[in-house]
Amino acid sequence: MAEEVQGQTAEESDSSESSEATIAVHWREEGYYQPPPKFIGQANASDPAILGRFAEENFPECFKEYGDLLSWDHYWHTTLDTSEAPFWKWFVGGKLNASYNCVDRHLEKHKNKAALIWVPEPEDVPHVVITYQELYRRVNEFAAVLQAAGVKAGDRITLHMPMVPELPVTMLACARLGAIHSQVFGGFSGAACGHRIADSTSKILITMDSYYRSGVVQDHKVKADEAVEAARKEGTEVEKVLVWRRFPGQYSSETPMVEGRDFFVDELLADHLGAVVAPVSMPAEAPLFLMYTSGTTGRPKGCQHSTGGYLSYVAGTSKYYQDIHPDDTYWCMADIGWITGHSYIVYGPLALGTTSVIYEGTPNYPDAGRPWRIAERLGVNIFHTSPTAIRMLRKVGPDEPAKYDYHFKHMTTVGEPIEPEVWRWYYKSVGKGEAVIVDTWWQTETGGFIGTGLPALNAMKPGSCGPAALGIYLNILDENGEPIPQGSGKAGNIVARNPWPGIFETIWGQPERFVSTYYAKYNKDPDSKDWHDWPYFAGDGAVQAEDGYYRILGRVDDVINVAGHRLGTKELESSALMVPEIAEAAAVPVIDDVRGRAVEMYVSLKPGIAPSPEIEAKVKKAIETDIGKIARPQNIWIVPDMPKTRSGKIMRRVIAATSNFADVGDITTLANPEIVEQIRHQVQNAKHARGEVPRELTEAEEAEIKSFGSE
Ligand code: WTA
Repeated sequence: MAEEVQGQTAEESDSSESSEATIAVHWREEGYYQPPPKFIGQANASDPAILGRFAEENFPECFKEYGDLLSWDHYWHTTLDTSEAPFWKWFVGGKLNASYNCVDRHLEKHKNKAALIWVPEPEDVPHVVITYQELYRRVNEFAAVLQAAGVKAGDRITLHMPMVPELPVTMLACARLGAIHSQVFGGFSGAACGHRIADSTSKILITMDSYYRSGVVQDHKVKADEAVEAARKEGTEVEKVLVWRRFPGQYSSETPMVEGRDFFVDELLADHLGAVVAPVSMPAEAPLFLMYTSGTTGRPKGCQHSTGGYLSYVAGTSKYYQDIHPDDTYWCMADIGWITGHSYIVYGPLALGTTSVIYEGTPNYPDAGRPWRIAERLGVNIFHTSPTAIRMLRKVGPDEPAKYDYHFKHMTTVGEPIEPEVWRWYYKSVGKGEAVIVDTWWQTETGGFIGTGLPALNAMKPGSCGPAALGIYLNILDENGEPIPQGSGKAGNIVARNPWPGIFETIWGQPERFVSTYYAKYNKDPDSKDWHDWPYFAGDGAVQAEDGYYRILGRVDDVINVAGHRLGTKELESSALMVPEIAEAAAVPVIDDVRGRAVEMYVSLKPGIAPSPEIEAKVKKAIETDIGKIARPQNIWIVPDMPKTRSGKIMRRVIAATSNFADVGDITTLANPEIVEQIRHQVQNAKHARGEVPRELTEAEEAEIKSFGSE
């Protein structure tokens, strides 16, 4: 065994010249798919001249085109101010209000057009249409409530709300006053919310008493009490908790309202019916919101997004990449608790005056046909979701889309690399071969898409996000900052060479961490005021094909180093997914004294398929064939389900810990914590039986395993 392994090592380890950033890349090149002529005919960006307008010689003025999509109270005098590099300021001198731009300015032409269509999870309850006029009313009235509570421009307000229309109403009411909202994903615990309250020193928490999730009414207000307690421990005292009611006229939570602290929003609103609150004119660089994202360790990072730059960028990218026209019905199935929902459910679509669908529940409730019934019923023609949701729907209902009469012109994928097999199902089954797919690479930090193709101008290539977005100049660098040429087959760290209007302004309260995490790596002169000296380090590994398209391999720390070969987890998983029986796959490292690390592969099967040694063998064979013997997993574990976060990402650190007999750590944020023990039992019993119980891990090894994979 050891000999065989060492034989491979010798044979395949000629990577001595490869840098730290080099990840083994063995992707097979995929063929192109062309956008349908019907789509091209109506697209917002169908003239290739747009590429010239956003060419580097026109930077930064090219972004005037995005800024001009908004209504400004005062026009800006400086498009990009670099005087405090890398704290970029966009559209300096400009003043505007985000709520005015997303609501008021549409009234003249589209007063009675649906702004939001809310689909509650129970299917026997009708959907709710909120017109722009109605949205205007609600935003104003709630802004009046906030004003009466003493809220003013610059205050931080934490929101911990589910997927209900009251969430965008609350966000827009904050924006109307120039207050900074910080929405914490509703599925997060009270404690997680409390840390974020404390980090942003919010005095007001806005929540809802309950919401539906998978057919069950969840008590949500209880988390507000936990959040207030957690924030208090960190020195922040929440003064007011405003509680929306999920069911009008009744309180659907077990926890008592705290006298003097907790208030029902509907009772407060009663004093402000018909109120009109003038939108506060904010400087372009004033913060619009904070969105927390987890770093690998320590304090969460409150990404601070600007008013003018951010809103321009999400409006521009919604127009050209989502191809949103005012008469489209657009549905993004993400949660507004994540950046995708902020940018591409609320701010981008509403800035363009479209109809944005909000769905309360889980995609497969009560069955895997639900999304397609919603699409059919509402006439959705633009659909937006993540690879995880696509994999799940493919697993539980591969033939469901065909049963429904809906027609998408456009579909988006976001959040993780999508395996070509899964992409093809999305294209053929969900899109019925009629829709373009845009694969959008970006981050909480970037505000909007930064790597993706223009749907009418760039052919699709499964698994690749496409070229850089308009006005973004991407590059792939090795550890020394040397560019890795396109088409070389080598991967490295993807960077954006330039700033753009949607880039976050700083980490709330942690400016040094902002510079050290995102800019220090490739900056050679910390005093430079020239943007060319400040490439943005995204922390993702990527490879650029001959045609200029980028393929994102995942976070740079999501790699398994087998005998000196850095294997991308996504690459391994994509290969496993080529086996027809496989629905989901997750690769993790196990400590191996000969090879450093070995690969273990966890897979779940499509419905109706029984686990068998044949399937295991097929997965091994696929990986050996696609990538090489070096990558052959030591074990394939066929499991009933993967541990996942509430947003659906597989928690690789939990399965890595299981494979290595390490502590699985905090699993309270999992959507399905019960699966962890089941998998542990299965895997560790089998390992005992096979005599594969590892030696005790060193401290460093344990730390690596427990933080494996981004969350
Ligand atoms: C990953 C979500 C491949 C990437 C908008 C990034 C992707 C992280 C893609 C950010 C994509 C996002 N292809 N990988 N199209 N989109 N990622 O902050 O690793 O939740 O750094 O923002 O997701 O996740 P975040």
